[in-house]
Amino acid sequence: MAEIGQDIAKAKAFLEKGELVGIPTETVYGLGGNALNPDAVAKIFATKNRPEFDPLIIHTSSIERVLEFAVEIPEVLRLLGEKFWPGPLTLLLPKKNILPDLVTSGLDTVAVRIPGHALSRELLSGLDFPLAAPSANPFGYISPTKASHVNDQLGDKIPYILDGGTCEVGLESTIVGVERDKVVVYRLGGLDVKEIEDVVGDVRVMTHSSSNPKSPGMLKNHYAPTKPFVLGNLKTLIKEYQLKGVTFAVLSFRDVFKTVPIGQQIQLSPSANLNEAAKNLFAAMRALDTMDVSVILSELLPEQGLGRAVNDRLRRASAN
Ligand code: TXA
Ligand code: MG
Repeated sequence: MAEIGQDIAKAKAFLEKGELVGIPTETVYGLGGNALNPDAVAKIFATKNRPEFDPLIIHTSSIERVLEFAVEIPEVLRLLGEKFWPGPLTLLLPKKNILPDLVTSGLDTVAVRIPGHALSRELLSGLDFPLAAPSANPFGYISPTKASHVNDQLGDKIPYILDGGTCEVGLESTIVGVERDKVVVYRLGGLDVKEIEDVVGDVRVMTHSSSNPKSPGMLKNHYAPTKPFVLGNLKTLIKEYQLKGVTFAVLSFRDVFKTVPIGQQIQLSPSANLNEAAKNLFAAMRALDTMDVSVILSELLPEQGLGRAVNDRLRRASAN
């Protein structure tokens, strides 16, 4: 198992040696490695069992430093960076050759983010290279929102996990680029699209396809528990599965179901708060996945605010 602690100097030392470290961010935990070191980058793909066609996000500590590895920041995207960084926003920018091709899976754009978590910001400020950091989960599985989640699955493959507590946002960053002067959202995430539109006007949301060449990693069945995950009207589903005699657990937005044992149901937000639901989503999915039942039953949230991004993850989980 990996060592878990809050020692930034230790994390730094491992990263400087080309090792990988689990790092906390406000969205989800990342599996960090030196983005300029091809061996470290290759280790990231191997550790996650991630296909090499799925590019990584690069993390750094300031807008100025973004230009160490991106050619430029188009004006509309700069507006967004200035407004929302540090935060749950990733920008697609033209890449510089200093980045190994493997980082971007051969694309000529690079995904860039300045994370908002105090520990990772301090770590990044002290490094003289940027960090490539995908979510710290095996490819296709649920993203980690606590250090223990990282340890559960990657603990025997990495030396250290920097423990920053539970991630405040709980969903991956919103990925944004620009095509022919139009701002495009490639992945719904922890920054509400509406907040982006308040700054740059209407945007195009282009996230659903499994063959979207701009976001090759947005495969339909991402973020999936290992158990079948069924979406629908919970009252109806519960009756149906009780009749069938199939054991199940329930993931609801706020409702408690009297006919289901309390230990087999999780409410994402008893007060119906969409941000709280987002923060709890991945930990809840993990907990349900380890319960002694055959199926997970769930429902969509209201399609507003972070509810949109939560629903995107729920739909992907049920696509398996
Ligand atoms: O919040 C986050 O973004 C977290 C934390 C750790 O920062 N990171 C994260 O990374 O979610 P990952 O690797 O799990 O997801 C990155 C997504 C993938 O779907 C990938 O295909 C897409 O970003 N991506 C990366 N570079 C890209 C590029 N140049 N063009 C289009 N999509 C890109
Ligand atoms: Mg991921």
